[in-house]
Amino acid sequence: MKIGDALSIGDIERLAKRRLPRVVYEGIASGVEDEHGLTRNEEEFRRYRLLPRHLVGVSQRDQSTSLFGHTYASPFGISPTGVAGVFRRDAELMLAQAAADANVPFVMSGASMVSIERVARINPANTWFQLYAARDAKISDDFLRRARDAGFGTLMLTVDNPVPPKRERDMRNGFRLPPKLAPLDLLEALRHLPWVFDYLRHGGMPVMETWAPYTTPGANAAEVARFFRTQSPSVQTWRDLDSFRRAWPGKLVIKGIMRPSDAMRCAEQGVDGIVISNHGGKALDRAPASIEILPRIKAAVGGRLALMLDSGVRRGSDIIVARCLGADFVFVGRATLYGVAAAGLAGAARALAILREEVDTNLGLIGCPRFDDLGRDFLLRDSEESAAPDGVPTIVEAI
Ligand SMILES: Cc1cc2nc3c(=O)[nH]c(=O)nc-3n(C[C@H](O)[C@H](O)[C@H](O)COP(=O)(O)O)c2cc1C
Repeated sequence: MKIGDALSIGDIERLAKRRLPRVVYEGIASGVEDEHGLTRNEEEFRRYRLLPRHLVGVSQRDQSTSLFGHTYASPFGISPTGVAGVFRRDAELMLAQAAADANVPFVMSGASMVSIERVARINPANTWFQLYAARDAKISDDFLRRARDAGFGTLMLTVDNPVPPKRERDMRNGFRLPPKLAPLDLLEALRHLPWVFDYLRHGGMPVMETWAPYTTPGANAAEVARFFRTQSPSVQTWRDLDSFRRAWPGKLVIKGIMRPSDAMRCAEQGVDGIVISNHGGKALDRAPASIEILPRIKAAVGGRLALMLDSGVRRGSDIIVARCLGADFVFVGRATLYGVAAAGLAGAARALAILREEVDTNLGLIGCPRFDDLGRDFLLRDSEESAAPDGVPTIVEAI
C-alpha cells in the first residue's frame, strides 16, 4: 500500500509500522504501565453514537473553526510530539508544513529535535510552542523569548508529566535517548532498511537543537539528550503558572488538565485555553480518558476559556463527538506522527486530509452542515435507550 491509498488513520499506522523498526514504532504506539489508559482513550470514544437528522440540506458543509482570532480550515490540529526526528529526520518541519498547507495549527514540542528558529521559517502564524518547563527557570524564560521572537502567538504549557512516567514497553525495548537496542532488536531493525539508511546517513540520533544552546558548545546528540533529562521533567506549581502568564504576552494554553477545579483555576489565573489530555496514555495509566471527563469540565468552565481535547482521536467522527460534548477544538498526536513516519510530508498531509474528509462526510450523514452547530442532541451513549426528539432536553447521561 502507498500513502495515497491509505483510507484511514489505521492504514497509516500500518504503513508506519512497516517502515519503522519494531522498537521505534513502539516508541510511538506505547503507553505506560499496563496501558489501560491507552485502550481506554479509544474505547471511550466508541461508547458514543451519532444520531442522524435526515431530510436536511447538506450539499454545502463547513468545518472551518475560529480559535484565538484565527480561522482554521478544520476543527483540529497537531499535538506536540517530542523526539519526532527519531521517527524521521526533520519530521517537525514536515508536520509544520503539512499543518500550514491544511491551515490547521501545529504545536511544536519543547522536546523537538528541530530548533524553534528552523520551525519558525515555515509558518509561525500556524505554529504554537509547547513548553516543558526546565528546572532552571532561566532556560524556560529563554524559550519564551525565542518563541516570541520566532513569531509564535500561542504558548502551550504541558503540566501532566511532573515526574517521569513508567513507560514499561519503552524501558523493555531500550527506547530512550539515546536508544539502547538489544542484539535481537538490532537484527529486527535490518528488516526496515530504508529507515536504517536514512537514520545512519544523517549521523544517527539527531541533536535536540532546541535544547543544545543550553549545554556545552559542540555537545553531541547523546550529551544534549542527557542534559535535557537533567532539566525535564520539572515540578511546576500554580505560582509558576502565574509567572508564565505574566511573562507571555500571547495566548496561554495549559495542556494535560483533567480536574474541573483545575480548569476553573486556569480560567481564574487568566489562561486562554486548556487541553484536556492524558498525554495519549503516556503519563498516568489510571487517568480518565479525555472524552470521558470533557462534559464535567465543560459544565465547570462553560465558555470562560477555549476548551480543547486530545488523546485517542483516530476518526473524524471522534472530533464530531468531542464537539457535541462541548470541545472548541481537537488535537491529534499519533495520527500525524504515524503519517510523517510512514511517508514524510505526504504522510502527515494524508493523515490531515483523511480526518478532514471524515469530518466532512459525517457532517453530511448526520444532517449538520456546520460543524459549529453540533450539539448534544446528535449524541447517543452506550447506557442510553434513545436520544431526545427535537426540543426535548437531551438525555445524554449527565456525567
Ligand atoms: C511519541 C510521542 C511524543 C510525545 N511528545 C510530547 C511532547 O513532547 N509534549 C507534549 O506535551 N506531549 C507529547 N505527547 C503527547 C501528545 O501531545 C498528545 O497528548 C497525545 O499524543 C494525544 O493522544 P493521541 O496520540 O491518541 O492522539 C507525545 C505523544 C507521543 C505519542
